[in-house]
Amino acid sequence: MQPLEGKKIVLGISGGIAAYKCAELTRRLTERGAEVKVVMTKAAKEFITPLTMQAVSGNPVAESLLDPAAEASMGHIEIGKWADLVLLAPATADLIARISAGMGNDLLTTVVLASEAPIAIAPAMNQQMYKNIATQENLATLSRRGALIWGPAAGEQACGDVGLGRMLEPMQLVERCITLFQPKPLQGKKIAITAGPTQEAIDPVRFISNHSSGKMGYALAEQAAQLGAEVTLISGPVDLATPNGVQRIDVLSAEDMFDEATSRAQSNDIFIGCAAVADYRPHAIAPQKMKKTVDSDEITIRLVKNPDIIATVAALSENRPFTVGFAAETQNVEQYAMDKLHRKNLDLICANDVSQAGIGFNANDNVLTLFWKEGNQHYPHASKMLLARAILEKIETLSTHKS
Ligand code: C5P
Repeated sequence: MQPLEGKKIVLGISGGIAAYKCAELTRRLTERGAEVKVVMTKAAKEFITPLTMQAVSGNPVAESLLDPAAEASMGHIEIGKWADLVLLAPATADLIARISAGMGNDLLTTVVLASEAPIAIAPAMNQQMYKNIATQENLATLSRRGALIWGPAAGEQACGDVGLGRMLEPMQLVERCITLFQPKPLQGKKIAITAGPTQEAIDPVRFISNHSSGKMGYALAEQAAQLGAEVTLISGPVDLATPNGVQRIDVLSAEDMFDEATSRAQSNDIFIGCAAVADYRPHAIAPQKMKKTVDSDEITIRLVKNPDIIATVAALSENRPFTVGFAAETQNVEQYAMDKLHRKNLDLICANDVSQAGIGFNANDNVLTLFWKEGNQHYPHASKMLLARAILEKIETLSTHKS
């Protein structure tokens, strides 16, 4: 059976350049069993034609609120009632503002008002428009009301700017639709996840850090929330939007992350250490900016070891959560991962080879092998979102079996 078999999705398209990806999105949704009805704003038709969307969805495209013929066949109330999900992709700043204000001044906004189905919003706009406090407040309002905010992604934009504001790729949206309709095996579970790098201050303007993007930890947080878990994400400094329904706690240093993680560990069922925690920090933070010396070409900074967060959590004697670590290695992956599993007393370790270009650090994809005391499983090249779901499914099986 296809993962979206029988699911009825209203795809609401507004007028952004990413609208050209909607034909692909519709194909991928229907291929997986969904029935898609497309509703377009007036501006959307400037970017992709209703005829194209009709051809790929196999359904007539609803375009106008005041078209008697269209209303006679299926009016806005019926379309809203028909939907199992209303997916707004791309959702422009204008559409987001109108929905947040509860307006019903075109067909798409009336469908949203008339629907009890979950609303998923895939923002797509210029990065400055996305950052604008008005847009942010509108998204926060919609999120508070239960709308799902999918993305945006960061990167190069059609206007030449670089930043947050790109619509998620069609397959990423399809993956989120699939997850949304999946059973919720992590319902009632509490999960704490560390993600991203840590920053270890040298002086007020300098720090030691690493290339971790936080993408894997954020993917885990997003998927865990979608699988029904109550998620706390303890995050180092990253350029990523907080996943929907996730409580995020921002930290900078490993010591801060240690405090936030260890104080919460015992109230969580599962702890996932996905952060690339700096192994060492400067012995002391210089109170003023360190000056270049004229008489020497060298400088020595004394480093001291940071506390091991995950090993501390895994060593808890009471209310110890099921503890999952990551191992990013450049060689002898299995040997080092197994060593870490035993040394840190973990229940599961997810190991990847970061020497391979295009996967691991900073990439959207990864290749992982999971090791636990009694077995292992290899996951070939896939998106971090898909791998996150696979990891959580494995955690669910192993932790249920254990308790
Ligand atoms: O020892 P290594 O840093 O390779 O171990 C990686 C695993 O340990 C990851 O799960 C990482 O989040 C965790 N870790 C930690 N605290 C540290 C160092 C690593 O929680 N100080």
